[in-house]
Amino acid sequence: MNTLSEADLDKQTVTKAYARWAPVYDLVFGAVFERGRQAAIAAAERIGGRILEVGVGTGISLPHYSKNCRLCGVDISAPMLRKAQERVAELGLSNVEGLWVMDAEHLSFPDSSFDVVVAQYVITTVPNPEATLDEFARVLKPGGEIVLVSRVGAEAGLRRSLEHWFQPAARKLGWRTEFSFGRYSRWAGQTPGMRLIERRAMPPLGHFCLIRFGNDGSSDHSEQSESVRAAG
Ligand SMILES: C[S@@+](CC[C@H](N)C(=O)[O-])C[C@H]1O[C@@H](n2cnc3c(N)ncnc32)[C@H](O)[C@@H]1O
Repeated sequence: MNTLSEADLDKQTVTKAYARWAPVYDLVFGAVFERGRQAAIAAAERIGGRILEVGVGTGISLPHYSKNCRLCGVDISAPMLRKAQERVAELGLSNVEGLWVMDAEHLSFPDSSFDVVVAQYVITTVPNPEATLDEFARVLKPGGEIVLVSRVGAEAGLRRSLEHWFQPAARKLGWRTEFSFGRYSRWAGQTPGMRLIERRAMPPLGHFCLIRFGNDGSSDHSEQSESVRAAG
């Protein structure tokens, strides 16, 4: 029996996959994910301020944000990020503060650094999605939002079976097919201060969603980090 688990999507596989995707990424995934990106940018701009794009990739979204937003981008793939750096230089995007090779699961920003954390088509590519969402919540300011666009796996039925069957091939391409919405809602339910604001179906085929979580300010992540450090 195929017992492929979430852990099988390891960082080495992901970085190898995106090193291969980097030269052709915009051509293959530019137009097909355009509507989702536009929706995520519009949601992020409603909050504005300092925005972190995690899994910024080739920086395909960066030129589309308002110049009033200050943008930071991180990605685990150096070849993808080089494309983003070229784009920022070519277009003279002066509102981009910086681009760093960084793992979404271990962000090296202080607590409460950003008004918005955006991750487009990223959560299904990281080995530990819930740990990654925890990091997003940690670096988010009170009153801020996490804005995701992500593929949402089926809970049951034929699509669920097909996704399970396709998972080993998808892993080699750098993502997972199986990730139901229940995992997002469970994460929000268990994470102090975070609540689901919106879930909106997105093309292609409505298999993707815009998902927004708000930080209601009731959880002080700096206090939590202090107590973890004290306990350690
Ligand atoms: C499907 S691409 C999405 C790129 C871009 N956000 C877009 O809208 O097209 C996924 C991106 O997430 C990055 N990524 C995957 N795992 C990551 C991790 N653990 N930390 C940071 N970036 C990661 C990949 O390198 C890749 O650039």
